[in-house]
Amino acid sequence: MSEYLINGGSELNGSIKISGAKNAALKLMAASLLTSEEVTLENVPLIEDVYTMAEALRSLGATVQIGKNKLTISAKELTNCTAPYDLVSKMRASILVMGPLLARLGQSKTAMPGGCKIGLRKIDIHIKGLEALGAEISLEHGYIDAKAKKLRGAQFHLDFPSVGATENILMASVLAKGTSTIKNVAREPELVDLANFLNSLGANIKGAGTSELVVRGVKRLGGGRYRVMADRIEAGTFMVAGALCAKKLELTDFDPQNLPMTLEKLKETGTKLEVKTDSVIIRRNHSANPCNIVTLPHPGFATDLQGPFMVLLSLAKGQSIITENVFEGRFLLADELKKMGADIKTSGHHAVMDGVEALSAADVEAPDLRGGASLVLAGLTAKGETHVSSIEHIDRGYEELEQKLVSVGAQIVRKPSDKLLSPQENTQIVTTKQKGLQQVVE
Ligand code: UD1
Repeated sequence: MSEYLINGGSELNGSIKISGAKNAALKLMAASLLTSEEVTLENVPLIEDVYTMAEALRSLGATVQIGKNKLTISAKELTNCTAPYDLVSKMRASILVMGPLLARLGQSKTAMPGGCKIGLRKIDIHIKGLEALGAEISLEHGYIDAKAKKLRGAQFHLDFPSVGATENILMASVLAKGTSTIKNVAREPELVDLANFLNSLGANIKGAGTSELVVRGVKRLGGGRYRVMADRIEAGTFMVAGALCAKKLELTDFDPQNLPMTLEKLKETGTKLEVKTDSVIIRRNHSANPCNIVTLPHPGFATDLQGPFMVLLSLAKGQSIITENVFEGRFLLADELKKMGADIKTSGHHAVMDGVEALSAADVEAPDLRGGASLVLAGLTAKGETHVSSIEHIDRGYEELEQKLVSVGAQIVRKPSDKLLSPQENTQIVTTKQKGLQQVVE
């Protein structure tokens, strides 16, 4: 496992361009299976999860060419309808091929998901929604087996506005016969990006960004070119980096309106913010005010930014409480932060932080994607050299994290795994690297 070595205490100063959104790009990639024509996606972050989704699409018979932040996908002929366990266990978002495969081929077989270690992530709403559209679904030998001769438009009300379930049901309904009305849906900006993308290919979706989607099924979708929205979670992560240690940090090329609660809460901590149409300037407040955070579906406070805020509030002058309502068990980060001197008590859905003067360097392990990025932020503030291991989790979702931070003055280096590799493992790495080079077509 590789690790980051971070020498804390540097002041951040400069500008960072926000990359394309992981959580939009992955869905747009899955949605490209809905058309037999070529689709080009621009502003795609080149991160591990995107490579994993590209592998998933290829395994189904699509071709995926990877260029500089650009993907060209052709799903002219799909030869397979199975998303195997090794892919789905690596990345939960691979279950989003289920809806498109059902719509295109009338069947899909998807392994039960894995992904980040953040509690029990169920799929019951995905299944109920696809059943409402006429699919017959059985769970056998760890696989979700779905079949439908022809999907039909339907009325469906989600038990909870799950992002993934909304996306799977939406993608399946686009080619269904008739109109679907889907209620209590997710309102996340990435869902809006998915709907805009599908409409650009010829779908007829109304209501994205509200809690009700109305989808009039169309016979087929065409091809096209689409620019993926900017990553609001990456932007939020860097905003907290700025709140912790920036003299002046400018984040550009994203829409701050997609992070309403993050901006509110940063203001509450006393962080100085200049919010513009497509950028934000952040200056730290030397001692942050405490504040309480309650994670909720959008437009509530994003659960993916709960970790970075746990770091910030660990250093506030007073007590703060975080209530996690979206995922159970998303406090694995707390134990790692305690090794760095944070005073955090967790109980069920709550974490209580009594702010400390400073964090100290320690050897810590990234528990998951967002928790890993949060430990990097903690390392930036801590005195001494922090080692963050298992950074493969971070590579899943942040494009060039260390390069971006170094460019604004952080001292962070990546130390590759020093594990001795067997000759066979060495050959595998070389082959993967060669494959990666071949994938870069421009
Ligand atoms: C997506 C995001 C993730 C973000 C999350 C919530 C991607 C790739 N990931 O994950 O970064 O943290 O939204 O904003 O876009 N649930 C059920 N039954 C279901 C589906 C979900 O009970 O069928 C529950 C889950 O267990 C969880 C909650 O709903 O407790 C939220 O999950 P969901 O909104 O589906 O998150 P993801 O789409 O997996």
